[in-house]
Amino acid sequence: MKVYMDNNATTMVAPEVVEAMVPFFSEVYGNPNSLHKFGTATRPALSHAIDQVYKAINASDNDDIVFTSCATESNNWVLKSVWVDKILNGDKNHIVTTEVEHPSVLSTCKFLEEQGVKVTYLPVNSEGIVEPHTVKSFITDKTALVSVMWANNETGMIFPIKEIGEICKSKGVLFHTDGVQAVGKIPVDVQDVHVDFMSMSAHKFHGPKGIGALYIKDSQALTPLLTGGEHMGGRRSGTLNVPYIVGMGKAAEMATENIEEKMKAIRAKRDRLEDALLTLSDTFTVGQREHRTPNTILISIRGVEGEGMLWDLNRFGIGASTGSACASEHLEANTVMLAIGADHELAHTGIRISLSRYTTDEEVDYVINHFKEAVARLRAISSSYAKVKPTPGGEAGECHIPEHLT
Ligand SMILES: Cc1ncc(COP(=O)(O)O)c(C=O)c1O
Repeated sequence: MKVYMDNNATTMVAPEVVEAMVPFFSEVYGNPNSLHKFGTATRPALSHAIDQVYKAINASDNDDIVFTSCATESNNWVLKSVWVDKILNGDKNHIVTTEVEHPSVLSTCKFLEEQGVKVTYLPVNSEGIVEPHTVKSFITDKTALVSVMWANNETGMIFPIKEIGEICKSKGVLFHTDGVQAVGKIPVDVQDVHVDFMSMSAHKFHGPKGIGALYIKDSQALTPLLTGGEHMGGRRSGTLNVPYIVGMGKAAEMATENIEEKMKAIRAKRDRLEDALLTLSDTFTVGQREHRTPNTILISIRGVEGEGMLWDLNRFGIGASTGSACASEHLEANTVMLAIGADHELAHTGIRISLSRYTTDEEVDYVINHFKEAVARLRAISSSYAKVKPTPGGEAGECHIPEHLT
């Protein structure tokens, strides 16, 4: 049996999405900017897809949604263009973000620091979220932008975006949120929360990889990242990727219709799985369930190294993760767990399990059984190893768990 439990890394493309995309590869393949019929034939599908994405996040007609190649591009675009618009060509010099953003935000902030921008990386609380008062206390009259994710990719923790948006609005500071792990998982309504910019990615909600979008409130000006043939009204040059835009539209519609019902169904499976795994000794999960996206568990098993667990689960056809997809090739500690206060040893035990609306009860049962077996096996190995080679400075398998994580 093969069980995919890594849906925060990417998702299966929904069959209906594939079906919607197929005609636009070799039947209706014109360039939407061409004036002939091959080009104009693509336009109804394009505008339908755009409507679907607007509806999915409740954007208004005054707002703009610009398709990009991925959320990494959307995040780069906002950060680099705010630097150009408000720092190089303005009187600001400061950006506020958090310690637990996706690398596409953190690396871009590091790049901007090298260019002389002051960046504040806000600490998170014991649940892994940044609190609104923390954001408020770091905003100065030199702050150009606050960038705080809507939901975290590793813990699933949902950030207080509404409150943070209000603070930014009252201080006259631009607010960007990386909405990648929120859109399609929880209700996202850009008219209910104040966000100037929001990044999205289709492959996180059963759309294709290689297509994302940037929501821009009130169609406000933002220097383009890609210049060229003035596509998308000059916002982002590059021939429009019609099949993928059609796929993103369909996927956004499917993920967000009756979202409360979908959330309830996923949450029930997630909670059943989490309850079963928590019966194992010395095990804990990060963040309260009700504050998390309904599909995510970040679990830590004392004395069991995360990568070892992944390989063991992989032998049984179970795909999970130890951190963000980009980091999983490197044997690095889970950075979000470190930010929460776990020591390195503990942060090496984190395993992220992320379900989808396609996850079945049978798959949950399969994971419960094999997970428990894997833990027993790895614990047995590490205790026999400890008998011959004690861990320096303490008992084998012993690691410091900060009080607030236990
Ligand atoms: C929170 C978050 N932001 C951004 C990204 C990057 O998205 P993309 O793969 O579309 O570049 C990811 C993907 O893992 C993510 O989880």
